[in-house]
Amino acid sequence: MVIVSLYNLKGGVGKTASSVNFAYMAAADGYSTLIWDLDPQGAASFYYNAQPKEKGAAKKIIEHNMSIEDAIMSTPYENLDIIPADISARKLDLLLDDKHSKKQIRNLLKAVQQQYDFVFIDCPPGFSLLADNIFFASDIVLMPVIPTTLSVRTYDIVKSYFEDKGVGVDKLMCFFSMVDMRKNMHKDVMGELVKDKRFFEYYIPYLSDIEKMGISHAPIEAFARSSYAATCYRALWNEIKEGVLE
Ligand SMILES: Nc1ncnc2c1ncn2[C@@H]1O[C@H](COP(=O)(O)OP(=O)(O)OP(=O)(O)O)[C@@H](O)[C@H]1O
Ligand SMILES: [Mg+2]
Repeated sequence: MVIVSLYNLKGGVGKTASSVNFAYMAAADGYSTLIWDLDPQGAASFYYNAQPKEKGAAKKIIEHNMSIEDAIMSTPYENLDIIPADISARKLDLLLDDKHSKKQIRNLLKAVQQQYDFVFIDCPPGFSLLADNIFFASDIVLMPVIPTTLSVRTYDIVKSYFEDKGVGVDKLMCFFSMVDMRKNMHKDVMGELVKDKRFFEYYIPYLSDIEKMGISHAPIEAFARSSYAATCYRALWNEIKEGVLE
């Protein structure tokens, strides 16, 4: 089982759009896949039209009052299951703090390790005990980066945070998101950041079809298979998959 989390300290960079699309693509490739929405905004759950089975499910899972297996729901897509988020996820930091362990998410996922090839975690932005738990659980932390000057700063902060927390900076991998090649700043920042060798070659441009996922309540390949947006996500996912499975 490979655990991939979509994370950035910054909000609104394409974490949810990417976790929803990569999970769909992994499942379409035939891998048994789970997407765990750990953001109280519940955006990944919204894209998959998934409501938690019980009120406060996120909180109950962390408190061991509901098993992770019981929280899993199927999606309309073959090989793809989801654990939807609910507003109780906003309290996860306090609940995790009780036990002072950074291995709680990893331990919870052990229950399903025979069942899934891939688990995607959609993270909320920011540093938190929840984020630390997700970093420790993940085999790869994928960070979408919009190529602007401020993002360079955020990227450096996240890398230092990984080093300070002893997470292992090797598991941090990045890709460019919402790219607009007409902007010199985007080209310049990409040229600078790729030197760090932590970025995938393929990137996701700024495309209105990706915004339409919210209208269709579906991953891009499910409703616009031949679109340029689907092609870009597919190319990037194939590159990531090769990197992860090598
Ligand atoms: N490549 C893209 N091109 C155009 N719009 C995009 C792209 N990626 C995401 N979006 C849109 O930008 C907004 C933010 O994207 P998304 O929700 O995936 O970001 P996020 O990092 O998960 O945000 P948050 O930090 O709030 O969880 C959404 O409205 C989404 O539809
Ligand atoms: Mg999000």
